[in-house]
Amino acid sequence: MERTLIILKPDAVQRGLIGEIITRFEKKGLQIAGMKLMVIPQSVAETHYAPHKEKPFYPGLVRFMTSGPVVVLALQGVNAITIARNLMGATFGSKAAPGTIRGDYGVSNAYNLIHGSDSPEAAEKELYLFFKKEELLDWTPTIQSWVYDMTGAKPE
Ligand code: RTP
Ligand code: MG
Repeated sequence: MERTLIILKPDAVQRGLIGEIITRFEKKGLQIAGMKLMVIPQSVAETHYAPHKEKPFYPGLVRFMTSGPVVVLALQGVNAITIARNLMGATFGSKAAPGTIRGDYGVSNAYNLIHGSDSPEAAEKELYLFFKKEELLDWTPTIQSWVYDMTGAKPE
């Protein structure tokens, strides 16, 4: 099982889309291992988007990400990182395909509703930037054996 860090950005929270977006992940079969509402401290936003430090959009991005409450989620599942990125859609709301979160709920490029880790290395870093170890729960959903075929050596 893999874990990924998802952020419902300030625009998603302000627009009342928390439930709609989380529902998509739940219905897909990804499991919530951690979740909280928070305002991202400046230093955490800067660290989180450090790979984009030299880009012209970086200062605005950090300002946006700290501008109001966000929901941070740790989602778990087989291939959770890729599955979550596919559900999110392309980076820009104007280009994201219908059926994806960004494609269905937004038109803006900057205000694109959601963040998801893009690799296992990024996920590891980002999960522990936003969550303490004890905030990530190890639990088995009762429906797990219907979400995955659990009869073999690993979930299929
Ligand atoms: P994210 O990191 O937020 O999940 O988004 P992403 O992987 O799809 O896109 P990434 O290239 O990592 O960009 C990070 C965020 O920066 C903003 N952005 N603005 N104005 C621009 O050209 C531009 N490019 C990127 C977006 O908010 C994007 O989510
Ligand atoms: Mg990214």
